[in-house]
Amino acid sequence: GSGRPAGASGHEGHGSSPLGGAAGGHHHGGVVSVDQLVARPGNPDRSFTLRAEQVGPHRYLVNGRTPGPELRVRHGDLVQVTLINVSVVAGVTLHWHGVDVPNAADGVAGVTQDAVPIGGRYVYRFVADRAGTFWYHSHQLSHEQVIGGLFGALVVRPRHPERNVLDRVATTHLYQGRRTINGRTQPMKITVPAGQRLRLRLINTDNGPVPVQVGGTPFRLLATDGSDIVGPTDVIDRSVTLTAGGRIDLELPATPATVGISGVGWVEINGGAELPRGSRPELDLLSYGRHAEVGLATAAVDRHFDYDLGRRPGFVDGRPGLWWTINGKMWPHLPMFMVSEGDVVRMSIVNHSGDVHPMHLHGHRVLVLSRNGIGSTGSPWWADSLNVRDGESYEIAFRADNPGIWMDHCHNLKHAADGLVAHLMYE
Ligand code: C2O
Ligand code: CU
Repeated sequence: GSGRPAGASGHEGHGSSPLGGAAGGHHHGGVVSVDQLVARPGNPDRSFTLRAEQVGPHRYLVNGRTPGPELRVRHGDLVQVTLINVSVVAGVTLHWHGVDVPNAADGVAGVTQDAVPIGGRYVYRFVADRAGTFWYHSHQLSHEQVIGGLFGALVVRPRHPERNVLDRVATTHLYQGRRTINGRTQPMKITVPAGQRLRLRLINTDNGPVPVQVGGTPFRLLATDGSDIVGPTDVIDRSVTLTAGGRIDLELPATPATVGISGVGWVEINGGAELPRGSRPELDLLSYGRHAEVGLATAAVDRHFDYDLGRRPGFVDGRPGLWWTINGKMWPHLPMFMVSEGDVVRMSIVNHSGDVHPMHLHGHRVLVLSRNGIGSTGSPWWADSLNVRDGESYEIAFRADNPGIWMDHCHNLKHAADGLVAHLMYE
């Protein structure tokens, strides 16, 4: 490996961004053998075609709408998605946020593929290997294209779904300065038939966290970031923080109900009064639920990395600015974090930067071990988008079980564009 992402020179086309690769051109890869990185062969169980369009300087659609179509597949399906770039000038890719896809399907322009130019296409193949709530979005100039609408939901249903559950997605997004839910500025209304429970899959596609306040009923937390929570209990008078890039699945009980959801994170049953934002204490995932087998032995650690998140002034390509840093360095000056397949990797993250950073590691989910030195006492908390606030420290761990080169970055996509990007690489 060269110690830098292939093709990520930052000097082509749309310039000096860690989130932008060249559109077209050839692939510079070759860091890991390609057959390790592609999904299993054979006929897909589900295939989709997604057409990306640009309809204004900062406006994008997928199949004529934003969000793009909600893709629903089943656990274990081999999924194939053909992306066609109809008119996105800077080129486009798709990243499957939270799904541990093979590296070739990860969609990172300049790292795992070139951006697809207008008239081009790219075929993504992966196995939906965990039931849960995920989403897809462009990873070419994502600070521009995601904010402009180039994303959609991906739901992986269990092989044997529970009966009497109404399953709905609510995607929150700040679009053209307005809060939206599933692309609309009006609250979303769901009528839950008598005898059914509602599984509400909330997805935060914004750059910042959203506190979700539930009013009028107790609720249960079923999953975070596409991983089930063990032994949920009813929760009353708590808000849940929906991390930027993150997902939470709530269950609302079986009562005949009208559920209203608005883009700022209200979920209200039967028209209860809207709660003031942030009026309820936050539910702490570290102590939520019942402890259960973790499935990752973190006692023996093969690698340990420290991430110190900070901020400093400097110049990039002659452009002065205040840049977000990891260990005092910003993309592309940060060395790659190297792992070997099978390693148990532990990471200590400390944030002194003055702002919150929703850290997102591609290709792996991470187990949250502790925050500010206080360990988890609840259900194992798996995350792919972790809300690291200023002044906080986290210990996390993951198994290096997915060879390739993977981005690890802040999902405030403006912060990522301003330097908060690292790469994990298998040796
Ligand atoms: Cu959802 Cu690298 O991003
Ligand atoms: Cu950030």
